[in-house]
Amino acid sequence: MTSAPRTRVLTGITTTGTPHLGNYVGAIRPAIAASREPGVESFFFLADYHALIKCDDPARIQRSTMEIAASWIAAGMDLDKVTFYRQSDIPEIPELTWFLTCVTGKGLLNRAHAYKAAMDKNHAAGNDTDADVTAGLFMYPVLMGADILMFKAHKVPVGRDQIQHIEMARDMASSFNHLYGEHFVLPEAVVEESVALLPGLDGRKMSKSYDNTIPLFAPSAQLRKLIMGIVTDSKAPGEPKATEGSALFQIYQAFASAEETATLAKAYAEGIAWGDAKQMLFERIDREVAPMREKYEALIAHPAELDRLLQAGAEKARQLATPFMRELRHAIGLRPLASAQATTTGKATDKPVLASFKQYREKDGLFYFKLVSPQGLVLLQSSGFGSPREAGQLIARLQQEGAAALDSAKAHFPALTGELEILAREALEKVMHAG
Ligand code: TRP
Repeated sequence: MTSAPRTRVLTGITTTGTPHLGNYVGAIRPAIAASREPGVESFFFLADYHALIKCDDPARIQRSTMEIAASWIAAGMDLDKVTFYRQSDIPEIPELTWFLTCVTGKGLLNRAHAYKAAMDKNHAAGNDTDADVTAGLFMYPVLMGADILMFKAHKVPVGRDQIQHIEMARDMASSFNHLYGEHFVLPEAVVEESVALLPGLDGRKMSKSYDNTIPLFAPSAQLRKLIMGIVTDSKAPGEPKATEGSALFQIYQAFASAEETATLAKAYAEGIAWGDAKQMLFERIDREVAPMREKYEALIAHPAELDRLLQAGAEKARQLATPFMRELRHAIGLRPLASAQATTTGKATDKPVLASFKQYREKDGLFYFKLVSPQGLVLLQSSGFGSPREAGQLIARLQQEGAAALDSAKAHFPALTGELEILAREALEKVMHAG
């Protein structure tokens, strides 16, 4: 008897803007699709503490929080399956931020891209190095580390610019684990390569900073008007048009099936008028967005309902965060004084907990096993065996010989990568010594 392996996916959205089509295609749509897959446990949250670093306009923060929450829900998030919450509803997050602050090298934070960019800008302008740099900007990666490590996320879908932050979170997790025992899962960044960057109205990447965005839930008439404003070349109706480098075509492709896209490509070759192509694009997007827009508008009209949904999400999240913080507080020595004696007499909570083997059968009829850390991280994942006995024999060897057995058995663990292998080896050594 085994439960299916679960991957915990977590991502945060900074609450400073209004979701646009680029956010939808690049982040919201893929995240929600992934959250519906079996074996995935998703955590999505509104990073409103992070928003304070960039924005000191309270009304804008509140408005953006509402719009982003409503957008993600309207886009089809299953609130029973995912955990969706506001960062600022989880008081454990700032507490964990402090714990991580104390194991994070200042030098590591000096090297963060966002901070370096701010310094470079100051140098270029002849200003003091840290002019207008808040300690919040400097500490940004630690707060983000707390977001991720709190919920033991395995995978963190982010944009390219955020990869460094995930690497820093791994560093923080390793330092903490090294000092206080294996409490944190080391997260991995996931950058969706297959999702195309959506161009904006002017053909550059759709981004708030270029002011070229199309709001995801603009009313239908405004959506049409914006689409009519997409920059094209000056080819007349009847002249063949190039799909390559056409923002209009790329946006269409992000919403259409392969078949629909081929039809538009043909129309381009046959010299479709730009106005007609834009009308096609408008209709295609509106078809996908209209049902969600209705839901979005209903939610925006009932903010108290949004509050209620977010509160329920926070409660769900805190069911994990509260006991985990208790564990962490204990681990670092913020303990009831009366527990000192218990510690020296070796209470169960202080004993190293071992990774364990789990055997199971898959739908393909084969027999598998995995080695799971006490925190639930899958350290080893075997390939399929024809019989449970074969799987069991390899487990027995790993238990008796420890990491040494891994060398000759590597072919059975195709997914074993660098860091994971180090963790798996450490865990196997402990299992062997305990056995
Ligand atoms: N910094 C992220 C961004 O700007 C938002 C964010 C905050 C985040 N905390 C996070 C993303 C944790 C992933 C995980 O995009």
